[in-house]
Amino acid sequence: MQTFNLETDLAGLKLKNPVITASGTYGFGETYAPFYEPSVLGGITVKGITPLPRLGNPVPRLAETPSGLLNSVGLENPGLEAFLKNYLPELALLDTAVIVNISGFSLEDYALMASSFQRGCGIAALEVNISCPNIKHGGMAFGTDPKSAEEVIAAVRKETDLPLIAKLSPNVTDITAMAKAVESGGADIISLINTLLGMQIDLNAQKPVLANTMGGLSGPAVRPVAVRMVYQVYQTVKLPVIGMGGILTWQDAIEFMLAGASAVSIGTANFGNPLAPVEILEGIKAYCNQRGYQSVGETVGLAHAQKG
Ligand SMILES: Cc1cc2nc3c(=O)[nH]c(=O)nc-3n(C[C@H](O)[C@H](O)[C@H](O)COP(=O)(O)O)c2cc1C
Repeated sequence: MQTFNLETDLAGLKLKNPVITASGTYGFGETYAPFYEPSVLGGITVKGITPLPRLGNPVPRLAETPSGLLNSVGLENPGLEAFLKNYLPELALLDTAVIVNISGFSLEDYALMASSFQRGCGIAALEVNISCPNIKHGGMAFGTDPKSAEEVIAAVRKETDLPLIAKLSPNVTDITAMAKAVESGGADIISLINTLLGMQIDLNAQKPVLANTMGGLSGPAVRPVAVRMVYQVYQTVKLPVIGMGGILTWQDAIEFMLAGASAVSIGTANFGNPLAPVEILEGIKAYCNQRGYQSVGETVGLAHAQKG
């Protein structure tokens, strides 16, 4: 088999290959360690961290739909201090890019979180979650208004020299306005999509299935929306894109790369098939080899004929 370059450089965030795990679906790396060595992946994104610990929303907070998962976990996490003390030291030892996903309820929260992470602290990048649909304040409120999105990214930018990934919400009319806003705010990379707001109703109980009424839809059901948004964002801004939303197989991953994603993140697929990221990586390698590419980057954006 011809050897080719799997590395991908996202505006300074160097990944050994383009496959990452998505925040909230990979814990802090420990969950999947019995299945494979996390360092085979290009990167892992840890569960969203908030300044203080959170128990999350009441149960039930997961519901299966015919082609996706509804969740209203509500950012359950140990909080910043416990993360720095109990999780970061081990994560820093991994031979893969560790991406920390941060959330908050105010600009100050986001800035505080960012100030705790600098180059050399053991992580490769910060992903700013301005797109969580499962908390009452903050989260998606920042990610659905371009002005607020720009402000929050600018506030984070001031506090850290790490590569900044702005994670966008699909719950907007015009994703390109959001992409431009976070580019102006100083983001280095855009990741998308977070979950789409949805709900399910129990016919017997005649009430919503989730205790939180609504939740975020992920999985194959959202894939066409995600591919469309990656395609649009690639056309609109210069920032590299991490694509996600319903990637189950290597074919799905290649679809995102052709739309313009320089890397892909695997989320809900992990729950059904813990080995999904590894199988997807193998499939990407085989596809690139079969097509005779020298580097994985050659696939990025090929579906944009007009970009030549
Ligand atoms: C149970 C669950 C928890 C999640 N928690 C977070 C989170 O803490 N922060 C975040 O930015 N995204 C979170 N997400 C969104 C995923 O990272 C991803 O953007 C989304 O699920 C779409 O990808 P997928 O269809 O491959 O899962 C969560 C998703 C799920 C299913």
